[in-house]
Amino acid sequence: MKILVTGAAGFIGYHLCEKLVKEGHEVVGLDNINDYYDVNLKFSRLEQLGISRENAEIFKETFHSSIHKQKFSFVRMNLEDRDALPQLFKKEKISKVCNLAAQAGVRYSIENPETYIDSNIVGYLNLLECCRHNKVEHLVYASSSSVYGLNEKIPFSTHDSVDHPISLYAASKKSNELMAHTYSHLFNITTTGLRFFTVYGPWGRPDMALFLFTDAIANGKPIKVFNHGKMERDFTYIDDIVEGVYRIITSSPDKRDKYKVYNIGNNNSVKLMDFIEAIENSMGKRAEKNMMPMQPGDVERTWADVTDLIKDYNYRPNTQVNKGVQKFVDWYNSYYTK
Ligand SMILES: NC(=O)c1ccc[n+]([C@@H]2O[C@H](COP(=O)([O-])OP(=O)(O)OC[C@H]3O[C@@H](n4cnc5c(N)ncnc54)[C@H](O)[C@@H]3O)[C@@H](O)[C@H]2O)c1
Repeated sequence: MKILVTGAAGFIGYHLCEKLVKEGHEVVGLDNINDYYDVNLKFSRLEQLGISRENAEIFKETFHSSIHKQKFSFVRMNLEDRDALPQLFKKEKISKVCNLAAQAGVRYSIENPETYIDSNIVGYLNLLECCRHNKVEHLVYASSSSVYGLNEKIPFSTHDSVDHPISLYAASKKSNELMAHTYSHLFNITTTGLRFFTVYGPWGRPDMALFLFTDAIANGKPIKVFNHGKMERDFTYIDDIVEGVYRIITSSPDKRDKYKVYNIGNNNSVKLMDFIEAIENSMGKRAEKNMMPMQPGDVERTWADVTDLIKDYNYRPNTQVNKGVQKFVDWYNSYYTK
């Protein structure tokens, strides 16, 4: 049984690949290694998986890992490639897919809408077509807490209405859920959408708050605190996310409903100022704070109701924010002082 993980050079995809190969699964990783953020970080993640930069730079050729040998291979490819993607599915005999490749980021979608349609809609459709024509057993795909948009009921439940997205990023993720529903219904494909809530941890994304704050504090620069600090997030540690995704992708799909959507979060809302304090404590240094107004497209508060995931997969996130932040800071210090 081969699992295709798209977005394998990305933050969550890299960690998921590590977990899957460690547990003995055969994995094909795919990523186009775009330059939305520092590509060196993406190449470094792949190096951890035994894929050299020299190989990872080449498009549409599959390379085996020097560490995990037959268990892990990588191909640089665009999801939008309507010729190459179907060929990859045929050649590799993919039986399960975890789609983590996407144009992420709420703020970036305001200035760069096209890239969200290319990757998250056109690329995603291409993937659905490949699942359809290759009898893929299970498609697990990344959605986002941002689909809750203007929802005010706390905590956010998958039973709440998500018809009010306030960024194109959120609209693209909601579209993914709708498209999955159609393909599950028409072609009997088992699909599971996961609404991730602010994922953080080692090898994390340079465009997200934890990285931006840590980097600014380390370099003696001020941090931008939006909405004057009146924000709350359900920060979820990467290992808890990966454990949840792992349980779902390795489960036997025939026991489940064909179409499912879950929240995957820490089940707890943390004040932004407390999160900043955890970073300051981990770094042993105070941040100079620039208090700023709310940004368009952003929401004040997120909080995941994960009852369904606990019930169906015994999902139990257990990383406290101060512990998780410390692990990120330790990684940041070792990675950037090498
Ligand atoms: N990190 C979070 O807090 C968070 C929260 C909600 C949702 N998500 C979703 O989870 C998924 C993974 O997020 P992440 O934080 O690892 O992001 P990431 O940007 O680190 O990883 C995504 C990867 O996908 C690749 N990619 C993008 N478009 C592609 C395309 N068209 N073809 C092939 N590869 C492509 C990128 O190069 C990148 O390496 C994304 O779908 C994201 O929207 C993440």
